[in-house]
Amino acid sequence: MQEKIIILDFGSQFTQLIARRVRELNIYCEIHPFNNVPEFDETVKGIILSGSPYSVRQADAPHFDYKRYKDQFPILAVCYGAQYLAHFNGGEVQASSTREYGRANLQYIKPFNPLFKDVPANSQVWMSHADTIVSIADDFEVIASTDSVRVAAYQVTGSKTYGIQFHPEVTHSTDGKQLLQNFLVDICHCVQDWTPDSFVETTIAELKAQLGDDKVVLGLSGGVDSSVAAVLLHHAIGKNLHCIFVDNGLLRKDEFQSVLDSYQHMGLNVKGVDAKQRFYDALAGLSDPEKKRKAIGRVFIEVFDDEANQLTDVKWLGQGTIYPDVIESISVKGPSATIKSHHNVGGLPDFMKLKVVEPLKTLFKDEVRKVGRSLKIDPNILGRHPFPGPGLAIRILGDVTPEKVAILQEADAIYINNLKSAGLYDKVWQAGTIYLPVQSVGVMGDERTYENVVCLRAVESLDGMTADWCHLPYDVLAKISNEIINNVKGINRVVYDISSKPPATIEWE
Ligand code: XMP
Repeated sequence: MQEKIIILDFGSQFTQLIARRVRELNIYCEIHPFNNVPEFDETVKGIILSGSPYSVRQADAPHFDYKRYKDQFPILAVCYGAQYLAHFNGGEVQASSTREYGRANLQYIKPFNPLFKDVPANSQVWMSHADTIVSIADDFEVIASTDSVRVAAYQVTGSKTYGIQFHPEVTHSTDGKQLLQNFLVDICHCVQDWTPDSFVETTIAELKAQLGDDKVVLGLSGGVDSSVAAVLLHHAIGKNLHCIFVDNGLLRKDEFQSVLDSYQHMGLNVKGVDAKQRFYDALAGLSDPEKKRKAIGRVFIEVFDDEANQLTDVKWLGQGTIYPDVIESISVKGPSATIKSHHNVGGLPDFMKLKVVEPLKTLFKDEVRKVGRSLKIDPNILGRHPFPGPGLAIRILGDVTPEKVAILQEADAIYINNLKSAGLYDKVWQAGTIYLPVQSVGVMGDERTYENVVCLRAVESLDGMTADWCHLPYDVLAKISNEIINNVKGINRVVYDISSKPPATIEWE
C-alpha cells in the first residue's frame, strides 16, 4: 500500500504548493479540507497543517482536533496551523503590531533539533502573517527565532509535533525543502519511493483489479490528460478499452488525422468519428460565446452517446480528470463559480450512467506529463499547448463558418510551425491565432483589398489562472506576419496581443 502524508487545508493560497514540494521529494500526499477529515489508516505517515486567511482569534476560525491525532502521528503545523496549536494549547496569539511579510532570517536555531538538520545559521525564510504567537505553553519549546519573531518555530517537548511561523513551501525560504525533507524522512520515516515509474506500476495493477474483464469507453481529445489516462487504461485492460476521438471540425489544421495516427501507433483501440458537419450545423448563426460553447457541448455529448451506444456491455466511463479539478470540487470554500460553462445540458446522457474511472485524479499537470514520459507517449502529444474544448470556435469571434475555420487553420499553422522552427514553442505556455470580425483596407499589387484581421496570442503561465503575454522576438513576428499575409487568402493584416491576464483572459471569448 502506498504510504502518504495528509495535508489538512485551512484555505491557504499556498496549500497546493506544500503538496507540490512533498511530491517533489517522491512522497505521495493528499490534500483534505480541515472540515472533512477522512479516517486515517496505516498508510498515513504524518500530517501537515496549512496556513489560512483566518485568524485563530476569529469566532469562526477553522478547527483541528489536535488531541485525537497528537500521539499517533507526527504533525508539522505551518503558519495558521502553528498559531492554532499554540493558541489552543496554553499559548497566546495576538495581532502583530506590523504585518510580517517577506524575507527574514533565522537568527537562532536550536542546535541538533531534527527539524533543522542541515539548515544553516541565518537561513532565509518567507513570512506572511498578520498574527504573532506571543507566548507558548510550558511544554512548548522555541526552536527557531528571527530578530522580530521570537516563536518562528516550536516543538511540543518530547513529541513529534512542530510548528513553524514561516512558509517552507515557498522558494524564498531557501532551506524550506531541506526542512520538509527532515520532517518527512527523519521524523515521519517516509521512504521516498513515489516516482512516475512506481505510479505507473501501481496504477496499472489497481486498474486491473478494479476493472477485471469490464469494458471502458473513453473520449480522447488529443490533449495530454485524456491521452495519458487512455494509455494507462490500455496497459491495464488492452482491447477492452474503447476510445472515441471526435473530429468536431474545430481542431487545428491536420490535427485530427495526425493525432489519430499517433493514437493508433501507440496501439490504442481508437475510433475516429467525423462529426464536422453536425458541429457546423449546430453553430450556424450563433455568435454569442456561451451559446457557441453550449451548442458544442451538446453536440459532443450526442455524438459520444451515439458511438458509446454502438458498443455492447460497457460498464465504465474513463476520464482524464486531474488533481486540481478534484481539489477544486472539495475545497474549503466549496467549488468556485464557473465563469465559463463547459458541458451544460439538461437530462443525463446514457454514457453518464456508467461508473467512472479516473486514473489521473491524484496527479498535478506536470506529474501527468512525467507519467506520460514514463509510458513513452509521443513527445508531440505530451508537449502540446493547452487547447480549449470548443477549439477554434472560440477563436473565431462572432459566428463560425467552415470557410472561416479553414482560413484560421491556415494562419494558425503558419504561426505554430514558425514557433516550432524558431525553438520557441516549448518556451511558450499557450499560443493561438484569433480570427477577428474586423475588415480593414490593404493593398496587394495594384489592388486595394478589404479583408480580415488575425491576431496572434502567446502567453507564459503556470496554470492558466494568470498569464503574461510573451515578448516574442520581432524578427519571428515579422516572418510569421509576412507568411500569413502572403499565403492566406482573406487575411491582409496581422496584429499581436499584448494583454496580460488579469484583466484580459487568454482566449478572446
Ligand atoms: P481563459 O480564456 O479563461 O483561459 O484565460 C484559461 C485556460 O482555459 C482554456 N479555456 C477553455 N478550455 N473549454 C476548455 O476546455 C473552454 O470553454 C475554455 N475556455 C478557455 C484556455 O484555452 C486557457 O488554457
